[in-house]
Amino acid sequence: MSQVSRRSFVKSSAIAGAALAAPAIGRAGVSANEKMGACVVGVNGRGGSHISGWLGDDRCEIRAIVDVDEDVGNKRCDQIAGKQGSRPKFYTDMRKAFEDSDVDFISTATPNHWHALTGIWAMQRGKDAYVEKPVCHNVYEGTALIAAARKYEKMCQVGTQCRSSKACRDAVAFLQSGGIGEVKFARGLCYKRRASIGALGDYTIPDNVNFDMWSGPAQYTDPKLTRKRFHYDWHWQRLYGNGDLGNQGPHQTDIARWGLGIDTHPNTILTYGGRLGYQAERKDPAYVDAGDTGNTEVSIYDYGDKCIVFETRGLSVNDSDDTELNKLFQSTKGNKIGVVFYGTKGYVVQKSYTHCIAYDMDMNVIQEFKGGGDHFGNFLDACVSRKREDLNADVREGHLSAAVSHLGNISYYMGETNRVDIAAVTEAVGKIKSLDDDSKTLERTVAHLKKNGVDLDKYPMSLGALLEFDPAKEVFTNNDAANAYLTREYRAPYICPLADQV
Ligand SMILES: NC(=O)c1ccc[n+]([C@@H]2O[C@H](COP(=O)([O-])OP(=O)(O)OC[C@H]3O[C@@H](n4cnc5c(N)ncnc54)[C@H](O)[C@@H]3O)[C@@H](O)[C@H]2O)c1
Repeated sequence: MSQVSRRSFVKSSAIAGAALAAPAIGRAGVSANEKMGACVVGVNGRGGSHISGWLGDDRCEIRAIVDVDEDVGNKRCDQIAGKQGSRPKFYTDMRKAFEDSDVDFISTATPNHWHALTGIWAMQRGKDAYVEKPVCHNVYEGTALIAAARKYEKMCQVGTQCRSSKACRDAVAFLQSGGIGEVKFARGLCYKRRASIGALGDYTIPDNVNFDMWSGPAQYTDPKLTRKRFHYDWHWQRLYGNGDLGNQGPHQTDIARWGLGIDTHPNTILTYGGRLGYQAERKDPAYVDAGDTGNTEVSIYDYGDKCIVFETRGLSVNDSDDTELNKLFQSTKGNKIGVVFYGTKGYVVQKSYTHCIAYDMDMNVIQEFKGGGDHFGNFLDACVSRKREDLNADVREGHLSAAVSHLGNISYYMGETNRVDIAAVTEAVGKIKSLDDDSKTLERTVAHLKKNGVDLDKYPMSLGALLEFDPAKEVFTNNDAANAYLTREYRAPYICPLADQV
């Protein structure tokens, strides 16, 4: 055990011991030198919520901040100093922060392409790790992150906070106790309006950003920026992000898997869709948006006896023809982000982080579930107890749920140039074993696109590859080219190791 990890271990054990001996020591009353030292990595958007989470828990103190954007990082340090009374150290290189013996655990809200490597490097240096969703940018990274957590015996929680929400926990318990009969099928929705991120172009990288380190495990683009807004919009460029299927998706596919009791990867995957509608939106037939992930996708996942369908819609979803979904979500306007479980005796809908509803077959409400939770606090509980069973979202859950998105995206990328008419999509969805009414889902998707002015003759949908996956070996068995997407080419020193090399 390294000096750093021994120190963390001794300290965590001491806290655990103190908690056992004197249960009164809880969130309040932990003395300064007993507190766990937090380091937050990537603090622009979501990192701000991590900071609030740690500031709100008396068991920890934020001792380090890491960001490759010096402006963003320094601003956060100032804010923390004002609230906490002590200014955390600021680092631009996470490796230096992970050497800091004042840091006991890290939480990371960098862009997706950094998640797994950040977690692995931190755990190798003896720190527990709270890693945002998706926990990995590709499937092999997720497997490696699990291996690191197990090898270094670290707590690794995924940022799927619904796992700690009372509403979601109660709804899942209700459906698993037979509240809506037998349940084998769930539909995840990310009907979330996303405007174009601007035209593909040649934009300037902000001076205050170390772009080499920002790019990290992704390809270094020379340095070239093809999107207008530096932060956040990387979500829609596949070198870094995973589209909304891999952004919002891991929350909802996680709940779907959880509710259905699925503890593995799917056997068969098919995605159709595209990045559609921005020409109509901009009233310019030649418009090319800088994003290259799908904004409209239907992904079908067959798990043998169970099935998940995930629908991504980035165009307007107001006044849609989705009569059944409108009823279940009790709304015809605005975004619909959630999960519908279809049982033999009714439905359960995860409508938001704090609200789920159970219906009978006639869509009468039979029960409602409300309330949030403290996912950050749950991570700290496990850091103290040193029991990974105490984590509400252990890294393995995060890996399985991120992989749902990655596998769906791989199907899309493999068929991206296969632009086809609706008849061809209809024929293809007829071939996948699924518990959904696939032709009805396709019809609704086409109606949605038409309502948004998409001319499908001129801009047809892409039909992804029908992929067969071996869940145990984590390889595609019918498409060698697709296997290349399970990892990526790394550049030194930002190489994410394979699971047996962590
Ligand atoms: N759990 C949730 O509900 C939730 C909500 C929003 C976002 N997220 C996740 O949080 C992550 C961040 O999203 P965001 O919207 O804040 O993105 P963002 O682009 O606004 O912020 C990312 C920050 O990370 C920094 N960064 C990049 N590379 C870094 C590195 N090597 N070291 C340190 N800092 C680095 C950037 O400079 C930036 O400040 C995403 O992965 C997203 O999926 C989760």
